[in-house]
Amino acid sequence: KSGTTKQSVIAQYLPAVVEPQSDAMAEPVFAPSNIALCKYWGKRDAELNLPVNSSLSISLAHLGTKTQLSVAEKDEVWLNGNQLAADDKFAVKVIRYIDLFRGDNSQAVKVETENNIPTAAGLASSASGFAALMLAINQFYGLNFEPQVLSAFARMGSGSASRSLYHGFVEWQMGYRDNGMDSFAMPLEHSWPDLRVGLVKVSTAEKAVDSRSGMNRTVDTAHLYQSWPLQAAADLEKLHQAIANKNFTLLGETAEQNALSMHATMIASWPPLLYWQPDSVAAMQAIWQLRASGTEVYFTMDAGPNLKLLFSAANEAAVKQQFPAMEVVCPFT
Ligand code: ADP
Ligand code: DP6
Ligand code: CO
Repeated sequence: KSGTTKQSVIAQYLPAVVEPQSDAMAEPVFAPSNIALCKYWGKRDAELNLPVNSSLSISLAHLGTKTQLSVAEKDEVWLNGNQLAADDKFAVKVIRYIDLFRGDNSQAVKVETENNIPTAAGLASSASGFAALMLAINQFYGLNFEPQVLSAFARMGSGSASRSLYHGFVEWQMGYRDNGMDSFAMPLEHSWPDLRVGLVKVSTAEKAVDSRSGMNRTVDTAHLYQSWPLQAAADLEKLHQAIANKNFTLLGETAEQNALSMHATMIASWPPLLYWQPDSVAAMQAIWQLRASGTEVYFTMDAGPNLKLLFSAANEAAVKQQFPAMEVVCPFT
């Protein structure tokens, strides 16, 4: 809404000449995917992906994206070992993002990217995808951006990517400036070795409505959205308290209520936006049942039908018994 473009913000941080470094073939870079415990939902500036509220996430360790750039004859984008057509929407987005840094008529590049999580299924591939792409660009062109700048620029690719520059707990401060350079993520110092995140995959098909359109629709059409910034602010406060005191109950309750509050705003949009499938609801009910019978487990959900479970190492066996296909991540080991 400020009218500021990504290009104009980025330009202020670029050297006079942007070209591949001679040792640019180096290593592929990796960025973890992340799951928000307090969600980013709604933008105050769609061009720069500036959020309405601050958010807090946990990164998924080895799950995420590996990306490598190299010199080529013509621009090429490869996803999980397959070359994409030049007009493929995924490829176009990637090349457009690289253009923000290299300018229009420079050296062609080959982009090879691999997601070890499903792409566009509500498991945060845009987060790890754009964080890894930002890191690959930084290395390939020898840009040496500071961590906060890397995070702010990754945010311009996808908001949640601002948080995927780090492992562990990460907070993305919404910021207030028009150019968004105070809207970046920082890691929290706290570690929580016993914490587990379980991925319950209901469907890994590409979602019908991507996160971006989903949140824009919600902001534009749901009166219920008015209450969202208040919910998010209160939850952020509780999460800080939960993390500082290793209060698992407070962490889990807050994350679950935050996710359901976000989904309430989606359902209240028009046309209605319901990312849940019958199996998503069945899984929620199984979790509530487990909790009622004494196993402390909570869930969070993003813009997709899959659930992410939160539990302690001591309860892993009990949760696995209910969800045998669940993939378990140890974010702090
Ligand atoms: P998700 O829930 O997976 O984050 P989104 O709708 O937010 O789904 O974003 C999916 C989009 O993220 C893809 O269509 C693509 O544009 C982008 N994306 C996913 N993986 C990568 C990657 N490895 N590199 C670059 N962009 C990616
Ligand atoms: C529900 O970061 O994917 O996962 O900024 O438009 O690319 P864009 O959207 P994206 O939205 C993520 C929404 C969420 C919540 C979260 O990760 O905080
Ligand atoms: Co996303």
